[in-house]
Amino acid sequence: MDFALSDPQQRLKDRARELAQSEIAGRAAMVDRDEAYPWDNVKALVDAGFFGMTIPTAFGGPGHSYLDAVLVIEQMAQACGVTGRIAVEANMGAIGAIMEYGTDAQRALAAELVLAGDKPAICITEPEAGSAASEMTTRADRRGDSYVINGRKHWITGGGVSRLHLVFARVFDEDGAELGIGGFIAVRDETPGLEIGAREPTMGLRGIPETVIDFKDMEVPADMAVMPPRGFGKGFADLMNAYNAQRVGAATVALGIAEGAYAHALAYAKDREQFGRPIAEFQGLQWMLADMSVGLAAARMLVYRAAASGAPYPDPLLAAQAKIMASDTAIRVTNDALQVFGARGYSRDWPLERMVRDARMFTIGGGTAQILRTVVASRILDMKLPQTRDGHLRLAEKEKAAAKPRAAE
Ligand code: FAD
Ligand code: COA
Repeated sequence: MDFALSDPQQRLKDRARELAQSEIAGRAAMVDRDEAYPWDNVKALVDAGFFGMTIPTAFGGPGHSYLDAVLVIEQMAQACGVTGRIAVEANMGAIGAIMEYGTDAQRALAAELVLAGDKPAICITEPEAGSAASEMTTRADRRGDSYVINGRKHWITGGGVSRLHLVFARVFDEDGAELGIGGFIAVRDETPGLEIGAREPTMGLRGIPETVIDFKDMEVPADMAVMPPRGFGKGFADLMNAYNAQRVGAATVALGIAEGAYAHALAYAKDREQFGRPIAEFQGLQWMLADMSVGLAAARMLVYRAAASGAPYPDPLLAAQAKIMASDTAIRVTNDALQVFGARGYSRDWPLERMVRDARMFTIGGGTAQILRTVVASRILDMKLPQTRDGHLRLAEKEKAAAKPRAAE
């Protein structure tokens, strides 16, 4: 077991840090205030080779690992949470699924867009299917050489700025028989019927739009269906397996935002004086700072471990554990860092209140804290997810099946 980064990884991390601190950090307050997608940051990331990092060399990318991408995302998030999130979707999620499961034509299309600076959108959540994602009602009906897609997604990150969309939908054949869940590639502005709806007024991470997207008789060529390895019948499981990378990415952004807040708190505690000495000399604050460092170290370890696990995607259990730990830690650490700043922590002229707002998202988006704990429980107990619609039935079936051999003895 080696806890050290390799030399190339250390160089990659140093390069990302230099860019994040010299260019990205200075724009973070403006991105939040203006609620505008940071195209300057996108250009800087593209120029540095930080878009499409996981795209294989055969498709023009550098073929980095998920752990390499995590090292870059962490540095970006320390400087600007929004830019960290952009870096996640530019390297994981939809692009990861297409690179692994897609055809060569799909990979080439996705690589061309992403390497040029498009952050893909992944469209799963619906108004009536959030945590219960498998209950989505958006449907893709086969009509000759196309699929016709109808439905509504909401809370789609990058709605109106992303061009490449990976749309999850229930698939039906020509006769109306349901086949399972699949992913469909649609490019905004080239696909009639893909309509961007209202933008959510969010608490944090305001530089990236979250919108409704409607699909109204959107026609997608059949060869733009991303066929999951086990077919549409196991499509949801295979697509969610690809999604584990994005969960590790979200965990990384939470970690990075918290690390950024912690760095501010450390510096401020050494600088600010009360009662004739730096506030860092008061044990009450020392223990807060110590607890922050412990939480961050633990979260970083779980995030790196998850990123380095599994193939082709991070292991579901490790990804869930990492996101639980990083998102809980991020809320606690950013909140404590704000406390270290006293009244300034509460001022919009200082960065801490933004970091608290940004960090709050990560126990919700990408699988809530409760759902991820359910995922962990199902795996450590070797049970089907008991708290889902038919979880109790499947658990009962499993128990019945396990009981049969004993009955026969
Ligand atoms: P609900 O599912 O309605 O849950 C409400 C509450 O009930 C939560 O606390 C939840 O944990 C709890 N709950 C539900 N079921 C259970 C259970 N079985 N056991 C215990 N507790 C339970 N989606 C996309 O598809 N693409 C995106 O790009 C995207 N980006 C997002 C960006 C942001 C900033 C946010 C906030 C969300 C984003 N989402 C996106 C949606 C996100 O994935 C969902 O919000 C999330 O899956 C939860 O769904 P919901 O909001 O409908 O909550
Ligand atoms: N990695 C790998 N496989 C996964 C998975 C993951 N993260 N999540 C689900 N699966 C698999 C299950 O193992 C199951 O496989 P099986 O058919 O071989 O048994 C299959 O997908 C269906 O899962 P199941 O548990 O039967 O579905 P469900 O509807 O009861 O619950 C949840 C699925 C709750 C785990 C899932 O819907 C979920 O993660 N919800 C959160 C949604 C989310 O993260 N949205 C983010 C949008 S950006």
